Amino acid sequence: MREFVWLNEALIPLDQARVPVDDRGFLYGDGLFETLRAEAGRVLWLPRHLARLEKSALALRLPFPADIPWEDRLARLLQANRLEQGLAVVKMLLSRGVAPGVGLPPASRPTLLIWARSYVPPTPEEYVRGWPVLTFPEPRTTFLGRHKSLNYLFYLAARQYALDRGAREALILEADGRISEGAATSLIVLRDGGFFTPQAPSALPGVTLEVLGQALRRRGQDLVALPVHPAQLREAAGLWLANSLVGVVPAASLDDLPLPVAAPATRFLQECLRDEH
Ligand SMILES: Cc1ncc(COP(=O)(O)O)c(C=O)c1O
Repeated sequence: MREFVWLNEALIPLDQARVPVDDRGFLYGDGLFETLRAEAGRVLWLPRHLARLEKSALALRLPFPADIPWEDRLARLLQANRLEQGLAVVKMLLSRGVAPGVGLPPASRPTLLIWARSYVPPTPEEYVRGWPVLTFPEPRTTFLGRHKSLNYLFYLAARQYALDRGAREALILEADGRISEGAATSLIVLRDGGFFTPQAPSALPGVTLEVLGQALRRRGQDLVALPVHPAQLREAAGLWLANSLVGVVPAASLDDLPLPVAAPATRFLQECLRDEH
């Protein structure tokens, strides 16, 4: 079956989509992206993803394509790829395109690529038992962590570090050694009966985290942001990994030490998220 993508204004077959080799996304990773989950043809939390994209675009002087009929485009993309049923992953990439100059030059023709593919989620057992997690020893020392930038190599290397050692996700440290986030996930910690998330100045503001925070507030609880040191995480009553695609998965172990997997709390967090779909 032929796959289709949006490349700028055109919905075209994937094998016909071309980006110039001097596109700054390719040359420098000069761009941003968003990864979204679609269920039965409906993309979840689109306004929140677009808000993050817009904020980061502003910070990096990329033009945000505000006048695009996003919902219509996504619906047509899912339809063209026969993804109106089941789960799909939608990826939006915005690069500065071809623009000469050093620094962050004005982009007169940014590149916007949107693609969608079917998504195979973790198994039901994984959602219950959790994933082994390892700490990536190289702290992240760039402000770019706050943006979902195309400079994703750091996170890919961190994830590979974990995979090479039999784990599924890597924990990222802030420059000062505090816990920041996962290589592709935000973190939720259970301690003293309350949920919190690491206060991490250079972590990505996760959409899932924001949605979970809202869901908890509806239930009279808070998702508090507090500084977390690695030793504190090892003593937590539970640790969960969350992103738009996967939802919420418990961490089964951290650096080879088993973590308590609190099944009722896992179910509670997963329900909280589902109620916000
Ligand atoms: C580094 C990083 N942190 C956190 C997340 C979770 O973000 P979201 O909930 O917006 O999908 C992601 C998503 O892929 C990520 O790459």
